[in-house]
Amino acid sequence: MALRFSPTMALEAKRNGKKLVEITAYDYSFAKIIDETQQIDMILVGDSLGMVMQGHSTTLPVTIDHSVYHTSIVSRAVTKAMVIADMPFMSYQVSPEQALKNAGRLIQEGNADAVKLEGAGRFAKAISMIVESGIPVQGHLGLTPQSINMLGGWKIQGKTMSAAERLLQQAEELVDAGVFSIVLEGMPNETAKMISESVSVPTIGIGAGPHCDGQVLVLHDLLGLSDFQPVFVKRYADLKKVSQEAISSYADEVRNGAFPGTEYTYKTKLQKDNE
Ligand code: KIV
Repeated sequence: MALRFSPTMALEAKRNGKKLVEITAYDYSFAKIIDETQQIDMILVGDSLGMVMQGHSTTLPVTIDHSVYHTSIVSRAVTKAMVIADMPFMSYQVSPEQALKNAGRLIQEGNADAVKLEGAGRFAKAISMIVESGIPVQGHLGLTPQSINMLGGWKIQGKTMSAAERLLQQAEELVDAGVFSIVLEGMPNETAKMISESVSVPTIGIGAGPHCDGQVLVLHDLLGLSDFQPVFVKRYADLKKVSQEAISSYADEVRNGAFPGTEYTYKTKLQKDNE
């Protein structure tokens, strides 16, 4: 079986100036649609599933069991892209040992190719333990949603020169710990540019401008399935409208008797018992 997109391929893409494309998915059907395009390098089973799939207002309620489950059903559909499983809140913060154990679950039970976790500093130890165990790690810096209560809301990070330099220092810590790429979320273009030009691994931006080595978007936002539309989300389709039109047509046709017409009914005739 051919291997899926790998960390080595991601690093090579950065060296060759080839942009990387990452997208989220949470279920088998959409993962299959995405993977069959053969256009996507990395599929992230993000803890955004807490907001997109579960209807919470933050990512904080997502558990490792939720993440394992969604990763396993996404992974079943994917042959080409790298499947990256997000490590949810409190699945790695307790200790490096806890982080390693849960990263292992995402690989063994979820069939992920890599894991992602937020932050640097004290998490560098957990990241190097995970990487040394053979599990690729994607880092995540900037507006890190699991720290929303510390950040005081969904606020752009790295806005001053000193804050940008702190982010750069964290990015370097992550590279030293062994990450193969870093998501940069919610920061000025210049901050993301400075980090992207300084570190050896690819940066993947979301709300961080055009200078990153790749981009990631939440699937439901780019397809127009969610109502979330901050400035950095481009809607490439309006599937909410298309879906609601289809559902309304179905309801109308059931009510006026047009569905199911003869073309949607079995042609088998009722037989007598002895025929
Ligand atoms: O959970 C998620 O979907 C993410 C991306 C937005 C990067 O972390």
